[in-house]
Amino acid sequence: MLPQPIRVALLGVTLAFVGGSLVSRLADARLPGNNTGYAPVQPLAYSHRLHAGELGIDCLYCHMAALRGRHAGIPSADVCMACHRSVRASQEAVRAEEQAASAEGRAPRTIVSTELAKLYAALGLDDQLRPDPQATPSPIPWKQVHVLPEHAQFDHSVHMASGLRCQQCHGPIETMERVRQQERLSMGWCLDCHRAVNRDGVGGQPVAASLDCAACHY
Ligand code: HEC
Ligand code: HEC
Ligand code: HEC
Ligand code: HEC
Ligand code: HEC
Repeated sequence: MLPQPIRVALLGVTLAFVGGSLVSRLADARLPGNNTGYAPVQPLAYSHRLHAGELGIDCLYCHMAALRGRHAGIPSADVCMACHRSVRASQEAVRAEEQAASAEGRAPRTIVSTELAKLYAALGLDDQLRPDPQATPSPIPWKQVHVLPEHAQFDHSVHMASGLRCQQCHGPIETMERVRQQERLSMGWCLDCHRAVNRDGVGGQPVAASLDCAACHY
């Protein structure tokens, strides 16, 4: 058995012959069609379980673009500030500080969560949420979870218009602390659903989901 780094290097060389586009994927150790369960650690611990589950925020509040075009899109940090201008830490952390302050007979300090501090830093704001002249705003470098190969086309809007729900393709995102790819996103997965909806419809409405190569490859 070869040591791990050498095996990985050999796999890289083999795949380099298969196709250039595969090589860039190796950096994240993922192979096309077999990314089920992929759940990269994100630069900021944003939780869909908390926001879309417990707090009940609608998916479209942050992913409205899914109705209009190919991409559902990732919200910019400004969208988060609708709430996080006032919510700077969890209620639990705020309450703990209030109790500590009253026990010590002092005024409670403003608590800023370490994860939310990353949000403020991305917007170039200081501890008081004022623009920090020293800081350069830069978007949060979220890691992309779902990726189709370039030769296949997928458009959210046609799927949303037919009445499908996000969860039919992404699983129970509102229970996920960290987003995980639920389905294979293989050609077989697309075609299986297209055949099923052509037979059963979506929510009682008939649909005609294409099985033509050119619908998905052009
Ligand atoms: C409903 C959409 C859809 C249709 C219709 C479709 N494909 Fe695909 N195809 C895909 C997707 C998505 C992938 C990428 C799968 C992956 O990454 O594993 C793919 C991958 C492929 C690949 C790459 C090898 C592979 O299996 O991943 C080939 C070749 C291919 N399709 C040929 C065809 C041909 C020929 C037809 C018509 C008979 C066709 N496709 C119809 C969605 C489709
Ligand atoms: C308050 C904003 C917000 C809400 C509400 C929200 N999301 Fe997200 N979503 C994000 C952010 C930020 C990311 C990027 C970070 C991550 O992957 O967790 C993301 C990532 C995703 C991804 C992975 C994207 C990729 O890289 O492939 C999917 C899928 C997704 N969301 C689906 C949903 C669904 C389904 C719902 C409703 C159940 C939902 N989201 C609700 C903000 C939100
Ligand atoms: C019919 C299946 C399907 C449905 C329904 C669906 N998605 Fe997706 N989603 C996908 C696929 C496939 C990809 C990968 C697309 C790519 O790589 O181009 C994806 C990618 C994404 C991404 C990351 C890339 C992007 O498009 O911005 C987000 C975020 C996302 N979906 C959110 C949602 C949300 C929110 C909903 C509901 C409003 C939803 N999706 C409904 C299949 C679906
Ligand atoms: C509709 C309001 C709302 C929006 C929009 C929102 N959040 Fe939150 N978020 C909250 C609330 C409320 C909490 C605190 C819940 C608690 O008390 O535990 C929270 C908690 C958090 C936490 C955990 C803080 C900690 O230390 O426990 C993070 C990280 C976070 N949000 C990131 C984000 C990001 C990133 C976005 C934008 C993509 C976002 N939130 C959008 C309401 C929101
Ligand atoms: C959960 C079921 C489901 C999955 C999974 C799914 N689709 Fe679809 N697809 C549909 C439905 C429903 C329609 C709309 C048909 C209509 O409007 O009559 C559709 C329509 C389309 C269309 C528009 C052309 C047409 O048929 O009218 C394309 C292109 C397409 N899908 C590609 C894909 C690709 C690529 C994948 C896989 C990455 C995929 N779909 C996965 C259900 C699905």
